[in-house]
Amino acid sequence: MKAALMETNEAVVVRVFHGTVVHSLALDQLDVVPRAWLGVDATGRIAFLQDGSLDRPALILKHKLSEAVEFVELPRRGFIVPGMVDTHAHAPQFVNAGNGLDMPLLEWLETYTFPAETRFKDADYAKKIYTAVVRRSLGLGTTTISYFGTIHAPANKVLAEAAAKYGQRAFVGKVCMDRNSPAHYVETTADSLRDTAHFCEEVLAMGDPLITPILTPRFTPTCTMELMTGLSEIARKHDLPIQTHVSESKAEVAWVKELHPDQPTYTHTYHQAGLLTKKTVLAHAVHLTEPEEDLVLAQQAGISHCPNSNFSLLSGMCPVRRFLNKGIKVGLGTDVSGGFCPNMLDAFRLAIIASKMVHTEHTELAPLNVAEGFYLLTLGGARVLDIDDKVGNFLVGKELDALVVAPFAEGSPIDEFDAEDVSSSGGDDEAAIKRTLEKWLFLGDDRNLAQVYVCGRPVLPFAL
Ligand code: GUN
Ligand code: FE
Repeated sequence: MKAALMETNEAVVVRVFHGTVVHSLALDQLDVVPRAWLGVDATGRIAFLQDGSLDRPALILKHKLSEAVEFVELPRRGFIVPGMVDTHAHAPQFVNAGNGLDMPLLEWLETYTFPAETRFKDADYAKKIYTAVVRRSLGLGTTTISYFGTIHAPANKVLAEAAAKYGQRAFVGKVCMDRNSPAHYVETTADSLRDTAHFCEEVLAMGDPLITPILTPRFTPTCTMELMTGLSEIARKHDLPIQTHVSESKAEVAWVKELHPDQPTYTHTYHQAGLLTKKTVLAHAVHLTEPEEDLVLAQQAGISHCPNSNFSLLSGMCPVRRFLNKGIKVGLGTDVSGGFCPNMLDAFRLAIIASKMVHTEHTELAPLNVAEGFYLLTLGGARVLDIDDKVGNFLVGKELDALVVAPFAEGSPIDEFDAEDVSSSGGDDEAAIKRTLEKWLFLGDDRNLAQVYVCGRPVLPFAL
């Protein structure tokens, strides 16, 4: 274990987890701590992470524990891991998840997606759907998510309120589009800017530290340069993050070239508008050219890799390894409903598969291994959203967003075929833990989640 992990802070500890801790310290550094003690204070921050060399009496002597401290014994052969970070999802599109995946991106948007989003003009409908969306994604272990909403200000507020109610850490974006959009689903530039500014101020006024407004120009084809520039000014004014799509399909890239023949590349249209910052999330980035990768790196923007969507909408395969080799920040996204699955474990699995497919064509780009996939799922996503000072792993001082995983829970989809092999060790030597972690990542689902914590607070079972 790293020396930095042994630090403690002085706060009074209200909850201590005892058992195996697994978290990522870097892309190639998976830290497994058997028989660990993980202490959390009343503000949800991590007070200590101690390895198994300490027994309980020594722990109690060493740390300031509240009289009402709760000891949480982690499940048999289970572990606590950082919550999963979905860097790109469309809340209104959950209605379409699993449907309409028979077309490529631009036709899919016109045929299925814009009509589905148009219904969110009705705030009552939005409340019903968004309640279900937040419960679904949080219940699957997505403790942080970056949502695209729709163009409708009231519905987006409903989404922010739903995330706040159930305790999900959420970025909520009012989608902006002022051109090349259906007549019933388009805004004027002025309305889009005014409604966005108002939405951002309203969300900031909620005063919920877990909920952040995010500037959301849909993508260059549906946004004028005037709109995009105005949005970047709002971002600067409040120091807010930005999200959009880039270079997802070849037809889209060609369209942007037609719309902006003066710009060297698609990515430069965002740079021209001032939209590339260290808090910018660029979804997909399947077909970036080298100068675009250099630009993304220079601006310290991050990429949301959405493999399910890239397969489902026939967009192509994203060379994630090349981005990682260059030092570009990468996280994972479900991109529901371009991706059909809201579970981030699916994004992990398909990211591994996609990297293997990329490798068959480009042998110099090594496939992602499990530790790297786990990094992308947690710390990588936190870095893309520029919140890795708060979450992503269990360094002392960070806020505890975590999943308590019970790999062999009754009724779960994972069979315990190796029970006899591990019975002498109890299954908590590092190699056995890593094998079980892999099982959960590739085979598990929400039946393996004994509890989900956001900022130290348990969120299950959901309030009504
Ligand atoms: N590009 C512009 N809008 C969208 C969207 O809703 N989904 C995906 N996957 N790509 C987009
Ligand atoms: Fe998307």
